Amino acid sequence: MSTNASHHALLPQELIRLKRDGQPLPAEEIKAFVQGIADDRISDAQIGAFTMAVFLNGMSREEVVALTTATRDSGHVMRWDALNLHGPIVDKHSTGGVGDLVSLVLGPWVAACGAFVPMISGRGLGHTGGTLDKLESIPGYAPYPAPERFSEVVKSTGVAIIGQTGNLAPADKRIYGVRDVTATVESIPLITASILGKKLASGLDALVMDVKVGSGAFMPTPEKSRELAKSIANVATQAGTPTTALLTDMSQPLAPCAGNAVEIVETLTLLRGERSNSRVMQVTRELAVEMLIAGKLAANREDALAQLEKALTSGAAAEVFARMVRELGGPADFMERSNNYLATAPVIQAVYPEQSGIVQRFDTRAVGMSVVELGGGRLRNDASIDHSVGFSDIVAIGDHVDSQRPLAIVHARSEEAAARAAAQLRAAITLGAETADADTLLQETFRGEA
Ligand code: URA
Repeated sequence: MSTNASHHALLPQELIRLKRDGQPLPAEEIKAFVQGIADDRISDAQIGAFTMAVFLNGMSREEVVALTTATRDSGHVMRWDALNLHGPIVDKHSTGGVGDLVSLVLGPWVAACGAFVPMISGRGLGHTGGTLDKLESIPGYAPYPAPERFSEVVKSTGVAIIGQTGNLAPADKRIYGVRDVTATVESIPLITASILGKKLASGLDALVMDVKVGSGAFMPTPEKSRELAKSIANVATQAGTPTTALLTDMSQPLAPCAGNAVEIVETLTLLRGERSNSRVMQVTRELAVEMLIAGKLAANREDALAQLEKALTSGAAAEVFARMVRELGGPADFMERSNNYLATAPVIQAVYPEQSGIVQRFDTRAVGMSVVELGGGRLRNDASIDHSVGFSDIVAIGDHVDSQRPLAIVHARSEEAAARAAAQLRAAITLGAETADADTLLQETFRGEA
């Protein structure tokens, strides 16, 4: 294999032709093509033709690994060795959900057990909430520190949750932009390389991935979710970062709230050790166990669980969160006085069902879209959001509701917005007479094969 890939590279149209005709692509050719994307030598038309050819013909495991590492290496790749950290660099990523505040609890929790978590998070996308939007409910929280400051906070606190800045995986930015307008988003090889190209650029020792299944999931069917989980675990592991993917239930909001400030309120409750067996904590705990084992901080599951329990009940996890908030510009007394800082909506009302019944099913995507419409998410990329709005106290599958027991509390800007969201929530929840059980929360675990 040539060390100077560009020297021998095929013309872009030749590489596209190979994929169009179902021929294998050599790793060094994929690398040269992706570098050409980052350097602007490859046109949008060529990216579009390439992504459509991949969409239609798929990619071998080797090809996806090559596309992933080339995307990772298309810009700056972080290194942590110079900091002499006494613990592994680990991170988590999720395909996104509703009421999915896992990252906010998980990062501080595993950091309290000795891991270092440089977490680069996103904003809400479609019906899903974004960790960064939620954190910005905290006045002063500045999620774009300079790179040196980011490193300092990771070192001193164990975790820093920030937004993407600078030159991480620039090839993905172009590829994703083209996919979005060429009907080529829904391709497992391309999704795998896109997610991992960005994640692995933060220089991780291990990664856990939470792939959602159900009515609020990004992937359209359980089979596709499963396929993505397996692809991500194996490709990341083969690219040199041991990775485990969990398949978890998103057929109802994960936490009993959806929005920004309301999810921060719940995060604080969970970090204080209350509701430690709730569904969102069960998922968080399972991901944390995988991180501690993969990062060699725990010998096995029992050991990991014992460490996590201690970090929660001692208040260490909450203290790490408080410190991260402080270090990134938030109030020093945020944990103690969050009520003084978090915005509250002018209209807060209970949403009652039209008749009594037992909650059978959620259209979870519709709940997420309702939060977006309340102003808690964006319909346009550059729009600002209202951190105060959303739903709290959302019921769960199997709960009984009636004229005394509401479906949720809506937090809205106006009476009209509250009424519209209430109608949307009623439509998104199916009631029935029979008892109902939630889907299995933790459905499957895929440990990457090298
Ligand atoms: N998220 C990403 O970052 N990339 C994809 O392709 C899909 C979801």
